[in-house]
Amino acid sequence: MTDYTLLDAQTRALLQDEPDALAAAANFVALLYDALADVNWLGIYVLRGDELVLGPFQGKPACVHIPVGDGVCGTAAQSRETQRVADVHAFPGHIVCDAESRSELVVPLIAGDELLGVLDIDSPSLARFGTDDQQGIEKICRTFCDLQRARAAFI
Ligand code: SME
Repeated sequence: MTDYTLLDAQTRALLQDEPDALAAAANFVALLYDALADVNWLGIYVLRGDELVLGPFQGKPACVHIPVGDGVCGTAAQSRETQRVADVHAFPGHIVCDAESRSELVVPLIAGDELLGVLDIDSPSLARFGTDDQQGIEKICRTFCDLQRARAAFI
């Protein structure tokens, strides 16, 4: 069981004094990937126009361009709502990047009113993510977005 309150504090401590947005995002995904059990891919897709483009991540090489509205990530971006998918094979339009992935949590990254992109977390286990994980990771994403907002550019 992850201590999300501690992980949120670690996120703030690691990122708050870093002025470079790309470096902060890279360390953010490394921190989360290291802290979360049973995860095979974790990374950021950045909104560029009307598509999501692969940003800092941990895991196997992944698809680079995802149109907003496509797959789990594109759905999270379009709806601006977290997508918690217990079985990715049951999600219409799911985009397979790592065939090992069975469940997925995608949290939109929103700073003020601006959609910056999404955080995508994949697990090789079915139904890996519960409501406690969703709430904990959403809170950490808000911390990340608040800190990114203060920087000159997102990535
Ligand atoms: N499965 C995602 C694509 C990204 S990869 O999992 C890294 C989706 O359906 O949007």
